Amino acid sequence: MASSSLTIIVTGANAGLGLGICERLLVQLAQKNPPDVQEVIPTANSTDPILPCTHLTLIMACRSYARAEASRKHLYDFLDAHTAELRMALDYDGHADVLRENLKIEIQTVDMSSVGSVVEFAKEISSKYTHISHLICNAGATTWTHINWPRCFLQAATDLYGFLTYPNYNVEEVGKVSSDGLGWAWQVNLFGHFAMFRLLEPLLRAGPRDGRVIWLSSQTASPTNLDMDDWQLLKDSHNYGTVKYQIDIVASYLDALAAVSTEAPRVRHIVVHPSVASTGIAMQLTGALLDQIKVICFIIARYLGSTIHIVLPFLAAVTATYAVLAPISALVDEDGRPCKYAAHGNRRGTRAWTKRELIQKWDEHKKDAEVLVERCDALLGEFTK
Ligand SMILES: NC(=O)c1ccc[n+]([C@@H]2O[C@H](COP(=O)([O-])OP(=O)(O)OC[C@H]3O[C@@H](n4cnc5c(N)ncnc54)[C@H](OP(=O)(O)O)[C@@H]3O)[C@@H](O)[C@H]2O)c1
Repeated sequence: MASSSLTIIVTGANAGLGLGICERLLVQLAQKNPPDVQEVIPTANSTDPILPCTHLTLIMACRSYARAEASRKHLYDFLDAHTAELRMALDYDGHADVLRENLKIEIQTVDMSSVGSVVEFAKEISSKYTHISHLICNAGATTWTHINWPRCFLQAATDLYGFLTYPNYNVEEVGKVSSDGLGWAWQVNLFGHFAMFRLLEPLLRAGPRDGRVIWLSSQTASPTNLDMDDWQLLKDSHNYGTVKYQIDIVASYLDALAAVSTEAPRVRHIVVHPSVASTGIAMQLTGALLDQIKVICFIIARYLGSTIHIVLPFLAAVTATYAVLAPISALVDEDGRPCKYAAHGNRRGTRAWTKRELIQKWDEHKKDAEVLVERCDALLGEFTK
């Protein structure tokens, strides 16, 4: 049986969903036939070269070495505990031990809000590794400053589902600029990752199969405020939803180019989102106590039948592991329409799966995607020349 060696970068891997993605990758790759992709990969004697994975280098791209170090230790302990459980099964095939033996978890610091830091990161990675199989663009942040309480109570009273899923009461800072002089939310979420992808593109093409860039979007991604005269979102009071929509269309555009390219290997782009998970992303708004209340509300929503209030980052990470491991043929829409993958989960919070969604208003904004890519390339060129 063929086996593979994967080198995967996860940005923002030390906490929240990024840490959940790392945990879930380890659990999936500890099995020859990972459950997250069992439906799309033949289970016995798979000939898909990505599986089984016997060698994994997981690169945690984080802004704090100390926080990443603590999470790296957690990940080794987590896999050891999981492997010990697998060993107890009578039909255990020893694969988790092989993966553990050949597992390297590395830390490379990077600040997504600084182009210089991303350039340094790419230089370090290029000097240490011959190829990268996957880049998971997970790090993200919002400019939320406070809750508009009257609006919060009104939405709770009139639209409970929206209150828990598409909050209209989180007030965002308008005009926040990074130390590079760019729109801060735009840079951390989109441009920093775009620059990382472009700078690592030769490595993403240097492996035995197509490289993959996996972009973290959001269920709140929205084209409503998209304005190409304010493409760095400095005037946008809903910049988080807009930058996530920009990610949807930029990644879809890049993938459409890759899909028709005759070069091999190519770099494919896949958009995923975790639906609703409990992480630190809204902590600056809520504080610890309110955050706990929010989690309880999510769990109630789940019991009432919502499949998108997943809560646990480990479960919400299912779309990222699916995008890493599923064959490309399973990741494209049959009619060629751009799509993204959303996480859904069961009522008890024990199981999660992926569901394909179409990118909203693609036909209307395809040209904007092309222009955004041109502008990102030109801007990166200015920084690196
Ligand atoms: N949670 C959800 O329900 C949800 C829903 C939709 C989409 N998402 C998306 O999922 C992704 C992960 O978010 P999360 O919920 O896990 O949030 P989180 O708990 O706040 O984690 C964010 C991660 O990004 C890192 N990060 C933030 N700014 C950075 C920067 N300038 N440079 C490098 N790393 C930076 C953080 O590092 P530090 O620990 O150093 O701060 C942390 O590791 C984001 O793209 C977010 O938009 C989340």
